[in-house]
Amino acid sequence: MTRPAPEAATHATNHAANQVDAALITRRSIRAFLPTPVPRADIEAILEVAIRAPSGTNTQPWKVYVVTGDSLARLSQALLAAYDDPERDTLYREEYPYYPREWVSPYIDRRRKIGWDLYGLLGIGKGDKARMHEQHAQNYRFFGAPVGLFFTIDRVMERGSWLDYGMFLQAIMTAARGRGLDTCPQAAFTRFIK
Ligand SMILES: Cc1cc2nc3c(=O)[nH]c(=O)nc-3n(C[C@H](O)[C@H](O)[C@H](O)COP(=O)(O)O)c2cc1C
Repeated sequence: MTRPAPEAATHATNHAANQVDAALITRRSIRAFLPTPVPRADIEAILEVAIRAPSGTNTQPWKVYVVTGDSLARLSQALLAAYDDPERDTLYREEYPYYPREWVSPYIDRRRKIGWDLYGLLGIGKGDKARMHEQHAQNYRFFGAPVGLFFTIDRVMERGSWLDYGMFLQAIMTAARGRGLDTCPQAAFTRFIK
């Protein structure tokens, strides 16, 4: 084998960079999916690629559950029932706080902006609690997506492993984009620990 001419190597490198950049740049959180099933082989290929993500001392702290079809529909119904339960905040809890207990600027401002941008786009007025509730419930319908991936971590693992997990999640979302698929990361599920 010989090395490609330098200009050919540069071209190939640029092409790969463009593809990686495109996957990163075109990833966005989608909140209205087509129901088109995703072949199992594609899901497996995405996970095979993503498990190449780095982790401290190669601990690979991730565990993934893939949910589709009837199982996804039943899970969605159970989540919606829990979400609509007036007692939900005494019945369920969040094991680890994802967001700060006390919000400060600039994060609170960004948080408010993303919320009002979304509600504005959907024509949901300030104070329209019923429609806000209904919009949030779309989380528990998986925004219509045909596949749900649930991620867990062993309780003995520490915050370093959560960093590893973030890299793994980003790798999944990027690998999905590379195959023309979209995603939405969702913390909305974490509040339903019994
Ligand atoms: C860990 C994590 C949890 C998130 N949880 C939710 C969620 O529960 N529901 C939702 O609609 N979006 C959720 N998002 C999406 C963010 O709102 C979104 O990433 C952010 O507004 C930036 O927009 P973009 O992803 O389109 O670039 C989450 C994102 C991350 C990284």
